[in-house]
Amino acid sequence: MRRTLQLLLIVVVAGVALVACGGGSSKEGPQQAARTAPAIKVGLLLDDVHERWERDRDGFVEVTTGMGAETLVEVAEGDQERQNQQAEKLLAAGVNVLVIVPHDADKATAIVEKAKARKVPVVSYDRLIRNADVDLFIGFNATRIGEMQAEYLLSRAPKGNYLLIGGSETDDNAKRLREGQMKVLEPAVKERAIRIIGDGWAEDWRAEAAAKLTEDALAKAKNNITAIVASNDVTAGAAIGVLEQKGLAGKVLVSGQDAELDAVRRIVAGTQSMTVYKSLRTLTRLAARSAVMLAKGEKVDTSSVTPNGLKDVPTMMFDPIAIDKDNLDGVLIADGFHKRDDVYGKGGS
Ligand code: GAL
Repeated sequence: MRRTLQLLLIVVVAGVALVACGGGSSKEGPQQAARTAPAIKVGLLLDDVHERWERDRDGFVEVTTGMGAETLVEVAEGDQERQNQQAEKLLAAGVNVLVIVPHDADKATAIVEKAKARKVPVVSYDRLIRNADVDLFIGFNATRIGEMQAEYLLSRAPKGNYLLIGGSETDDNAKRLREGQMKVLEPAVKERAIRIIGDGWAEDWRAEAAAKLTEDALAKAKNNITAIVASNDVTAGAAIGVLEQKGLAGKVLVSGQDAELDAVRRIVAGTQSMTVYKSLRTLTRLAARSAVMLAKGEKVDTSSVTPNGLKDVPTMMFDPIAIDKDNLDGVLIADGFHKRDDVYGKGGS
């Protein structure tokens, strides 16, 4: 009798174990359930793909895929008409949510209208789409980034000629960066401590446009420039390239944004003064998770709103970190954003 009971117990336990890990025929395990559930389709529309955006794409897709969603990615390469066509393509493909890095904050409104007509929620990623019924804006505080760039340079060069290199005029972030920069610089301009000898905009954030702005300003100031408030690392790199041609690299303070590898190497070399780090791990994970939740019709908790001309857009906003040679190890390398060998070279420190 005792032997029979023991055998029975072993069979029952084995059966339960089999079912629990999905081996049993009676019901699917959790993994199978995810695979057979109708896959959520997420559409991601990027504007550009220099280093920072490659990280956004890869981090975002890693998370949506891990959540069992299929992600369709399109890159507009600076062309809003193309982005609008790509949006049509993704909506026709049946995406359940559209995540957009708008090339043009105003013209991207048409994409939102088409998505909403199909009851597809829209996430404005890193850049705000204006005058549109956006469901979520997720990004970093661009005005604060502009303040950090200007504060860093002004604290080290309280007097002299300043050149401002803005980003794309179609990018809401570029406007907000300039607002933040001028909020810090204005008092020093009023006191005539500093002089702004150029304040142009680099079309589509292109390096060539930033280089031209730098050449024109150096010609106008007869090379007497103290600081360049470059709004991101691509434009900073272009400006520093021009400074190098004139033997001025390292003698002019230059700001940046995105903590791209080339920029961090320039900070180590002393030709770029600082950059601003935005944790793309945070941004991509929360954007991907929120997109899948919106696709499922679930509510996403937000902590603030951002007025976009049409509505107060529910917003997730994160704080940036100013980076220079003193903290790049403790933040960027410790955070795993860059590898030590990539920054300093093999065995460097
Ligand atoms: C901005 C973004 C910056 C920078 C720039 C260039 O909108 O906020 O981080 O990458 O685009 O694409």
